[in-house]
Amino acid sequence: MKKTDIAPAQGKLGVLLVGLGAVSTTFIAGVLAIRKGLASPIGSLTQMGHIRLGKRTDNRSPKIKEIVPIAELNDIVFGGWDIFEANCYEAARTAGVLEEKLLEQIRPELEAIKPWPAVFDQRYVKRLQGPNVKKGKNKKDLAEQLRADIRNFKKERGLDRMVMVWCGSTEVYMTETPAHATIESFERALEADDPAIPSSMIYTYAALMEDVPYANGAPNLSVDVPALLALAHQKKLPVIGKDFKTGQTWMKTVVAPGIKARLLGVDGWYSTNILGNRDGEVLDDPESFKTKEESKKSVLDYILQPQLYPELYKDLCHVVRINYYPPRGDNKEGWDNIDLVGWLGYKMQLKIDFLCRDSILAAPIVLDLALFLDLAKRAGMSGIQEWLSFYFKSPMHAPGLYPEHDLFIQLMKLKNTLRYLKGEELITHLGLEYYD
Ligand SMILES: NC(=O)c1ccc[n+]([C@@H]2O[C@H](COP(=O)([O-])OP(=O)(O)OC[C@H]3O[C@@H](n4cnc5c(N)ncnc54)[C@H](O)[C@@H]3O)[C@@H](O)[C@H]2O)c1
Repeated sequence: MKKTDIAPAQGKLGVLLVGLGAVSTTFIAGVLAIRKGLASPIGSLTQMGHIRLGKRTDNRSPKIKEIVPIAELNDIVFGGWDIFEANCYEAARTAGVLEEKLLEQIRPELEAIKPWPAVFDQRYVKRLQGPNVKKGKNKKDLAEQLRADIRNFKKERGLDRMVMVWCGSTEVYMTETPAHATIESFERALEADDPAIPSSMIYTYAALMEDVPYANGAPNLSVDVPALLALAHQKKLPVIGKDFKTGQTWMKTVVAPGIKARLLGVDGWYSTNILGNRDGEVLDDPESFKTKEESKKSVLDYILQPQLYPELYKDLCHVVRINYYPPRGDNKEGWDNIDLVGWLGYKMQLKIDFLCRDSILAAPIVLDLALFLDLAKRAGMSGIQEWLSFYFKSPMHAPGLYPEHDLFIQLMKLKNTLRYLKGEELITHLGLEYYD
């Protein structure tokens, strides 16, 4: 198999974060702590993952970062925007995810990261309001201001490359309109201040115009419209989204393939969460929750394939709830009740109670996405990066394809993509050769 030419990961990598909230600050503080040897990068494939190469008998399982050139943590420089003025240390304290003792050890580095004024409009995130917001003639002007921030960051910090990850709040539910159809209609809409262009799309446009790959950690459309995908292609930039797959949905994409593999039926799947962080507060607004709900609910339909197995899954009742409950802060609790049907129609139940930490699960995903997107760009990959579906609740996909949600197929796809880049044999798990 042919090896892909991948440019080396030389120089500094700027990671641009939209929103310096719980996820972003946990990610930044984590990377700073890991660099200092204060903690370990648990949960990150780029830092800890191994990949099998060749036959099982070859005993070749190097670390992923030993086979593809991934940027070093020491070469990452952080920058970002937020509607609040708090620096990264203060924002991490507000988020309340990490212990004070850890934050104190990296305090000067965190304090030095101060958010640039944001592009924000309360029409798209109803429950938030903040002072650190740009003013502009129209949305085109706001996009130009973001582009200037990106260029200044690159120049001032002597960066070689950059990536952007949306870690901002979930915007209200929106669908595609003619404004999103082409690059030209999109640019006209920017000039005309069209309400069809939410803040997240202005950031995406600015990133792509500045040759910066983009990942969307929230479920809102953002880069997932034809105009911005065309721009990504035109500029040869990799993009991916939507909505980090962290707690309950991650568990769902682990358990559902197992149930389906045994051809057990499912009558109902009831999922509820309590969450008390700012994300929970934003999602308490029905319009933002609708965006999240769509993202969370699509998973089972694709995994269980009711059209192929109507007897097992056609009437499945799938309910997803998130309740804002301040006492729990970032420590979300997610319950699942699954009503199963077995041999001869006999009923069973499965209960899952996941006491997780939202941002602790999301932070390594942000790190991997930043590093893999940077790798993808250096490998000449552009457009939707389906091999990164592993990290998302609503993975973006080519038109006409259905998204792959099964976590294990996603992981196989990711690892085979890395093997493919290196010209290594793809692993099909056929294994007949061992019995010849
Ligand atoms: N933590 C998880 O497990 C997880 C999983 C999937 C998706 N997400 C999504 O990731 C995002 C971040 O989550 P979080 O827990 O850090 O939320 P958070 O509320 O702590 O942080 C979001 C930050 O974005 C800022 N913001 C909002 N709109 C902005 C804009 N237009 N420009 C700049 N800043 C803006 C807010 O002021 C806030 O500080 C949310 O959309 C959330 O739904 C999180």
